Parts: sequence; C-alpha cells; structure tokens
Amino acid sequence: MLATGLEGVVAAETAIATVGQESLGLRYRGYSVVDLAEGASFEEVAYLLVHGELPGRQALEAYRERLAALRPLPEALYAILRLLPADAHPMDVLRTGCSALGTLEPEGAGRDQYAIADRLVAALPTMLLAWHHAGRSWVPHAEPSGLAHSFLLALHEREPDPLSVRMLDASLILYAEHELNASTFAARVTTSTLSDFYSAVCSAIGALRGPLHGGANEEAMRLIERFPDPDSAERGISEMLRCRERIMGFGHRIYKHGDPRSPLMKSWSHRLAEASGDRVLFPVSERIEALMWREKGLHTNLDFYSASAYRLAGIPTPLFTPLFVLSRITGWAAHIIEQRAHNRLIRPSAAYVGPEPRAFVPIEQRG
Ligand code: COA
Repeated sequence: MLATGLEGVVAAETAIATVGQESLGLRYRGYSVVDLAEGASFEEVAYLLVHGELPGRQALEAYRERLAALRPLPEALYAILRLLPADAHPMDVLRTGCSALGTLEPEGAGRDQYAIADRLVAALPTMLLAWHHAGRSWVPHAEPSGLAHSFLLALHEREPDPLSVRMLDASLILYAEHELNASTFAARVTTSTLSDFYSAVCSAIGALRGPLHGGANEEAMRLIERFPDPDSAERGISEMLRCRERIMGFGHRIYKHGDPRSPLMKSWSHRLAEASGDRVLFPVSERIEALMWREKGLHTNLDFYSASAYRLAGIPTPLFTPLFVLSRITGWAAHIIEQRAHNRLIRPSAAYVGPEPRAFVPIEQRG
C-alpha cells in the first residue's frame, strides 16, 4: 500500500527517543522531556543525546569547557561568512557555514564523529552570531556558561535577563530531538550512503528550513504579529481558514491529541509576557489557539508558543529556525552515529504513474 509522506512507516530502530507511540511519552534515552526541560541544562541534554548518558558533575564541567574552547572558528570561515549577503536567510548561512567547515576540518585525519559532533554543537552558534554581527568573531565568555546565556549575551551585547535565559535553555532542550522527523530522516538518508558527517548535517539543515518543519516558528511569528488584538486575530484567522490556508504552528504528523512540548513553551511565553507587561502577543496567541481548536480540532505544536516566547526575549524572527538548528544538531548527531552503527542504504521504492512504454523518436523526426 502507498504511504504518502511515509506516514506510519517504521523505517528504523532507534534507542535515542520515543515520541509517544509506545505509550512512553516523549523521552530522550528514557528520560521524560518534561523532567529534562524542568531540571536539566541544554548541555546535559546535548551530552546525553550525543554521548549516550547524562554526564556527572565533572564530565559536565569538562564538556562545557570543551564546547567553549571549540566555539571560535577558523579565520577562513569568518572570511567566508563576511562574504555572504547581509539579507541572506540565516538558515542558508548555517548550511553554508557547516559545508565550509567540512572543507576546512574534514572528517577523518584524526577527527572522529564524536569530535565533529562536539565541534558543530559549539561552532554553529558562533557562525550564526558572527554573521549576525557582520562577520565579527564571537569571543567566548571567560566562564563557560551555557548556550542559552552565551547566545543571548552575544546577541544583545549585554547581560540577559535570567527569565529569558531559562526560557531559551528549556526551549533548546525541547527542540533537541524528535525521532524520525523530516530533517533527521534526511540526515540518516545521507548517512546511509556512507557520506561524511557534515554532508548529513547540511541535508538536515536544508530539510529543517521549510515552513512545514522548523520554519514554522518564524511563520507563526509573522502571523501573530499581523494582529493588534485578539478580536482582529479571530477575524483574520477565520478568513484564512475559509480560504483553506494552513496556520503555521498547528497540527502534527505524530501528535493528533496535542504536542507534549507545547504546554511547556506556552507557560514560558506566559511568564515572559507577564514579566514584560505584554498585552498583545500572548492574548492574540491564546485566541488563535482557541479558534483553531474550535474550528479545526487542531492543537498547537512546539513552534507556536516558541514564537511569542522568543520574541518576548528580544530574539529577531529570522533567528528562530536557526536556533532550532543549534539545538537539533545534537539529535542529528546522535542519529548519524546510530545510523552508522547499524547501517543499511535507505532506498525506498515508488509506484510508477507515468506514461505507458513508448518508442523513442530521434530529434530529426520530432518536428
Ligand atoms: N492549518 C490548517 N489546516 C491544517 C493544519 C494547519 N496547520 N495542519 C493540518 N491541517 C489540515 C489539513 O489541511 C488537512 O485537512 P484536509 O484533510 O481537509 O485537507 C488535515 O488537517 C490533515 O493534514 P495533513 O497535512 O495531511 O497532515 P500531516 O500529518 O501530513 O501534516 C503538518 C502535519 C505538521 C505538516 C501539518 O499539520 C502542517 O502543515 N502544520 C503547519 C506547519 C507546522 O506547524 N509545522 C511544524 C510541525 S512541528
């Protein structure tokens, strides 16, 4: 039977995450994502995903120091980033930066897959921020702080408020891994040909960029921002639904009864809205959520409340999907390593629906 979009097809075994099919809820290597988002830091989760177990105190400290040391880029990469157009989409910048790093520090020659995974976890944020700040290098914080803190510090060039840091840390944890989503599958397909680590990550970044996947958080923000108040949101979204338009940040291939990550992001968005005195973004978002449930029976996914939470933390919209990359690189790395350990070429088949067999006519006789 044809499974369009590969819906329901079990295409791999994985020990990395469950997304609910086995009544286990969303778990990373057995740990509930809610517990991780509430009690762990992004670096602990990155280590868990890439290296297989939660780190102890010393291992975590060593990991943070290693990442801090791996943040600066080779001068040639800063030069490449400086050449990219200022109006390029930062997802294209990350895809290009990842590819360029693969030429400067190729896999092999003393660089194993774990070293490349750590390098990309550390260096992708530097690429994004260096490009954002017009090619300036990102000097790592003397005390190796977590990605959420260093990112906001480098983005705004001032000490970030603790609530925004905690929100971003939780969000990076929630975005880190999600089984065979489209970008992870793209990474596994490329890996299955025995290609290199960087090529697999470039495939994944390309897949994540689309609005049906990671690009949804940016599109959700652009939508929410259109409305000055909940009533106009109600009118605008109703009209979009009448025209059969898709509302980004709603629906999910796996979660038909709600995305377990979404309530966590909603609560962060709510807390940031209260702290900043926001009277528009959060109420508009809630009204859209109620309308979508009433009219379409659709729930929010992680991307919907990430949008307002990121905006309330002062993050520019074009950086939303790139932030997803800075987190999901950990899940991609885990899957690339797992695919290699049990590799078989991924090569499905298609049902042919083209023309009947016909005779070739040489160009001279075709008219
Ligand atoms: N807005 C409006 N309608 C939606 C919708 C949305 N966000 N998501 C799904 N639907 C509708 C579809 O139009 C379709 O209705 P129809 O049968 O009347 O045509 C039905 O729900 C099923 O949608 P389908 O696209 O087949 O489901 P899927 O499992 O293939 O798609 C998504 C999953 C995520 C691609 C889809 O829900 C979507 O496009 N969401 C918006 C993008 C987004 O937020 N992506 C991030 C995912 S984490």
